[in-house]
Amino acid sequence: MSIQVSSRQRPVRQGVSARLLSAACVGFMVLFGSAAGSAQASSGAIPKIVKQDGRYALMVDDAPFLMLSAQVNNSSSWPAMLPKVWPAVTQLHANTVEVPIAWQQIEPREGEFDFSFLDTLLVQAREQHVRLVLLWFGTWKNNGPAYAPEWVKLNNERFPRVINAKGVRRDSLSPNFQATLEADRKAFVALMRHLQSGDAERTVIMIQVENETGTYGAVRDYSPTAQKLFGGAVPQELVKALGARPGTWTQVFGKNADEFFQAYSIAHFVDQVAASGKAAYPIPMFVNAALRDPFRDQDPYDYASGGPTWNVLDIWKAAAPSIDVIGPDIYLHDYRGYTRTLELYGRADNALFVPETGNAQESARFFFEVVGRGGLGFAPFGMDFTGYVNFPLGAPALDEDTIEAFARNYKLVEPMMRQLAALNLRGKVWGAAEPAEVHVQHVVLGAAGNAPWQVEVSYGRGMFGEADPKGNQTPSGGVLLAELGPNEYLVTGYRARVRFERAQPSQMPFMLARVEEGHYEQGHWIFERLWNGDQTDWGLNFTNLPQVLRVRLADY
Ligand code: DGJ
Repeated sequence: MSIQVSSRQRPVRQGVSARLLSAACVGFMVLFGSAAGSAQASSGAIPKIVKQDGRYALMVDDAPFLMLSAQVNNSSSWPAMLPKVWPAVTQLHANTVEVPIAWQQIEPREGEFDFSFLDTLLVQAREQHVRLVLLWFGTWKNNGPAYAPEWVKLNNERFPRVINAKGVRRDSLSPNFQATLEADRKAFVALMRHLQSGDAERTVIMIQVENETGTYGAVRDYSPTAQKLFGGAVPQELVKALGARPGTWTQVFGKNADEFFQAYSIAHFVDQVAASGKAAYPIPMFVNAALRDPFRDQDPYDYASGGPTWNVLDIWKAAAPSIDVIGPDIYLHDYRGYTRTLELYGRADNALFVPETGNAQESARFFFEVVGRGGLGFAPFGMDFTGYVNFPLGAPALDEDTIEAFARNYKLVEPMMRQLAALNLRGKVWGAAEPAEVHVQHVVLGAAGNAPWQVEVSYGRGMFGEADPKGNQTPSGGVLLAELGPNEYLVTGYRARVRFERAQPSQMPFMLARVEEGHYEQGHWIFERLWNGDQTDWGLNFTNLPQVLRVRLADY
C-alpha cells in the first residue's frame, strides 16, 4: 500500500455552503476550510467547549472542530526530534498533534523557566498548519513524577511520595501536600502565561493537565498527613454533589473510602492547577485516564488508584470543575471493551474525547465509533519516526500500512470535519465499526422509537448479490452517517455495505431517490456522479476507496 505524502495547502478562510449552514443551524459564524487550512485560519477567538442538550463541540475559530489527532512518543518533545515528527503527521493527514510539555524541561531549576522548546514547537506547528494539544507532564506522568525536575523528584521531604498501607514508599507523589501543589501550579501557570502572550494564532487548542494520574501499588496515601485528612469529614461540596450524607470518608463511602479519598485528593489537586492555569489563559483543559476493566470491579491495586477511572467519574466531576473533559486512553483491541469504554466516558456531563489509542491497524476502525458518538477527537499514540513502538499496546512497527490505516480515515473526513463537528453538536451523526464476531449491525439514526430511519451495516459480503456477510479478513470496516436534513444523509465508510431501512413499522414502500457521490471542498459539496443500478441495488457498498455519498430517501 502506498502512502500519499501531500504538501499542505495554504489556509483559506471560507464561508460554509448555505445549504449545510442551514442544516447545521448551530447559531455561530462558521469559518470552514479544509482541516489543514482551518488549522491556521485563526479568527483569534480562544478555543472553548460548548454544550448543547447534553452534546458537546470544541470550538476553534468560533466553529465546531473535530480533532483528527496524533500523539507523539513520550520523548519526542525536543527540537531535534521534530523533523521526525512532522513527516508522520503529514502522512497521517492529522489536523492536530498532541505533544508533551515536561515540567523538567520548562523549569529545570526552581523559578527559572525555559520555553524554548515550546516556542520552536509553536513556530513549526504553524508552518505545518496543524493545531496543538499540549500535555502537561507534571506531578503525574503515569502515576509517577518522572517528568518533574530533579529538584522535585529527588526531594522526598519537601515533595513527599505516597506511603502505602504497609508503610512502603511508592513512586507516586502524594496529592495531599500543599508544597507539591504550589510548585506544580507555579510551573503550570508560567506555561499558561507564556501561551497567553505567545499564541494569538490559537495554535494550541487544548491542554491536558498531568498524564494518567493515579497511584500504582497503593490505594491511597497513608502518611500521617493523609491519615489526618482521611479521618476528617468528606468535603461538603463532594457530599452535596453526590447527594450523600455527611460524615467521615469511611462513614460515607464504606469499603470504597480509600480509593475515593485518593480520587478526590488527586482530582482536587488537578483542579487547583487547572483553575490557576485558566485564570492566566482560559483554554479547554482535560485529563486522560488509564483504564480499569470496563466490565467488572477490580482491586484498585491493579490499576492507577485515584485516577479518573469509570467508577470514580462522579467524584472527579464534582472535585475538578475546571477540567472540561475526562478522556479515556483506550488501548483495548476488542470491540466490546472499546465501545463499552466509549459509553462509560461519553456522558451528558462529559464530552467524549479519546486522547490516546493504540496505533495498531485494528484500532483505526474505532475512529468511526468515536466520531459517531459525538467525539471531539481521536488520537493514535506514538505517531512519529523516532523509532520507538509500544507493541503490543500498539503496532509492531510504524510502517506505511499502519499509517495508512489511520490516514485513510483522516483523509476521508478531513474535508468535512467542520460539518461533522457541527452536526454532532446537534446529535445528527452516527458511526459503526466492525466487531470481530458479528458481521451485521443495525444503527438507528436518531432516538429509538422516534427515528424515521436506521441502517443495516454488513461486513465482508462482496458488492453484488446477497451472499452472507462473512466479515472482513481482519475487522477493519466502518461507516459514518450524518443527517443533513429530513430524509437526507451523508454516508461514508470503508469495507462495509450500508442499507437503509425504516426504523418504525410502516406499510409505505420507499426508495433511494437520489444517491450522489462527491466530496467537500472548503465547505462546499462538489458533485461527481450519481450512483444507481448495481451501485445501489444491493445496498451502498464501501470498499477501500474514499467515497462520500449524499443519499435522499423518498416514499413511493
Ligand atoms: C499511556 C501513557 O499516557 C502514554 O504516555 C504512554 O506511556 C503509553 N501509555 C504507553 O506507550
